[in-house]
Amino acid sequence: MKFRVGIITASDKGARGEREDESGRVIGEMVAEHGGEVVAYQVVPDDLDALRETMLKFIYRHRVDVIFTTGGTGFSPRDVTPEATLAVVERLVPGIPEAMRARTLEKTPRAILSRAVAGIRGKTLIVNLPGNPRGVRECLEVILPALPHGLEILAGRGGECATSLPSGGKEEKKFS
Ligand code: MTE
Repeated sequence: MKFRVGIITASDKGARGEREDESGRVIGEMVAEHGGEVVAYQVVPDDLDALRETMLKFIYRHRVDVIFTTGGTGFSPRDVTPEATLAVVERLVPGIPEAMRARTLEKTPRAILSRAVAGIRGKTLIVNLPGNPRGVRECLEVILPALPHGLEILAGRGGECATSLPSGGKEEKKFS
């Protein structure tokens, strides 16, 4: 069984139809390689209430296992994706943004400018990604290998962590 993915692109320009959403496309392509199926997708303005409502809709109506947001994590006054995420999640998963920033800092010093957070609401994981497509790719490369295992456990379908440890340091097991 595949895991169900929701993609929310936070962008004022995108929501007005003034910018093509390459980042959303990159997320869809990359999650597909790890067993993810995109079942919900929306471009939303950088507005806290709109972002929060869209996350809740994806969780309760579309029953997604994971939501990836892209954009709205920087320092602009309109960047409120982390705040919307914090309004929705019940438990934080700090290791995800920690790893994204630490590992991609080797590629760009600007990685520290993302205020991305990750957390869990019920049985759904929410992960903030930066807005630019290259940043999305770099961050997903870091977190996707470990993600299916976490989603299995979150869904109550995971086995023992110890017995499913990847042998060569890379997680190869697909979500099933
Ligand atoms: N992280 C990675 N890995 N690669 C990037 O290119 N861009 C940074 C940062 N994180 C970037 C990155 C930049 S330039 C900014 S301003 C912040 O993410 C916030 O971006 P956002 O507001 O589009 O979410």
